[in-house]
Amino acid sequence: MSKRKSKENSFSLGECIAQVHMILRARFCHYIPGKPFGVEAQYKNLMDLIKQTAVHGESNSVLIVGPRGAGKTMLLRSVLKELMEMKQVKENLLQVHLNGLLQTDDKIALKEITRQLQLENVVGDKVFGSFAENLAFLLEALKKGNRSSSRPVLFILDEFDLFAHHRNQTLLYNLLDVAQSAQTPVAVVGLTCRLDVLELLEKRVKSRFSHRQIHLLNTFGFKEYVEIFQQQLTLPKEFPDGRFAQEWNQNIQSLCKDKAMEDILQKHFNSSKDFRSLHMLLMLALSQVAVSNPNIRLPDLLAASRLCTMDSKANVLHEFQKFIQRRTHSIHNFEKPVVLKAFEHLHQLELIKPMDGTSTRTQKEYQLVKLLLDSSQIMDALQKYPHCPTEVQLWASSALE
Ligand SMILES: Nc1ncnc2c1ncn2[C@@H]1O[C@H](COP(=O)(O)OP(=O)(O)OP(=O)(O)O)[C@@H](O)[C@H]1O
Ligand SMILES: [Mg+2]
Repeated sequence: MSKRKSKENSFSLGECIAQVHMILRARFCHYIPGKPFGVEAQYKNLMDLIKQTAVHGESNSVLIVGPRGAGKTMLLRSVLKELMEMKQVKENLLQVHLNGLLQTDDKIALKEITRQLQLENVVGDKVFGSFAENLAFLLEALKKGNRSSSRPVLFILDEFDLFAHHRNQTLLYNLLDVAQSAQTPVAVVGLTCRLDVLELLEKRVKSRFSHRQIHLLNTFGFKEYVEIFQQQLTLPKEFPDGRFAQEWNQNIQSLCKDKAMEDILQKHFNSSKDFRSLHMLLMLALSQVAVSNPNIRLPDLLAASRLCTMDSKANVLHEFQKFIQRRTHSIHNFEKPVVLKAFEHLHQLELIKPMDGTSTRTQKEYQLVKLLLDSSQIMDALQKYPHCPTEVQLWASSALE
């Protein structure tokens, strides 16, 4: 792609690159909830459930279960976004967002519920006998003018499993009790990454839960993963400069067909196939895109992949090596101490240990002990080690093959 001003509109290459960064960053960082990929059934299921509460005043409870980064929050946010575009829902539905990491006990949670429902003034200095009484008061306060019906409330409990550790599970018990007894239209949506979450609930709490669960388990295979990769990098039709978008998309398409690219993705897929880590990889590659480099290229992705898989121990090793180098004026004059230090350090990191039976008189032999790093990472580290002693290099090339 050369420096140019397109004829049909006046976007310079710099402006196009700025747009690419804006669009793709928003996509990877999830500023704008788009529709999640490959979870249409779960999307519909959740949408129907919340709609039942918001429009028809039915109470519901449901758990969204899936590993970290599987898209639980994204699913909920995009469902809510679509629902909030409906006038009836927007005017009617109240939302309360709680998080087990923030509301660490039920007293704090109740305060937060009051705050989010904007009922602090109504509650004032009132003292309540119990949690249930307080919650009932709040829900009562939400009744419409004619007192005939109440406004539906959606309770979202992120990190749901943490609420199960609260004393007597009071909050869960009361919310699910309200949902089950249909006094007030409420929907309780819990998000958790614990598959065994129901085991954590007390019997009386469990019996009040509807046992509806929506699973997000990232069940796609490698072929779909490559499609997702391509889709995530593709510029939309609405991109301001049509020609730039076309060239960009063609480049992404040909990148996906490259064998080396497939290898990078396969490695990434094998270690973790969730969207969050894919987005991290893409974000790092995107950061290399500039006017002087107006395309995502294979080396960018390779470097990004290396950064993603880089091990903290290897980083410590690099820093340590730099430190030794700075302290040693001429590394060659100090070859012996440097070798020893390098080994000592690998030893400290529990990456190697001396072989049994080697004495001080014979040459020491080492073996790898903890391969939390794969051998390519160690080789990488050693290659970057300036003036790496030959002894260490020889050892590595024979021990790590
Ligand atoms: N199905 C999907 N389609 C598109 N993007 C997705 C999908 N699932 C997840 N993502 C992306 O992955 C990232 C992580 O998703 P999200 O925050 O929803 O995960 P989560 O399940 O809530 O994780 P956690 O348990 O850590 O809260 C988001 O940036 C989102 O854009
Ligand atoms: Mg989440």
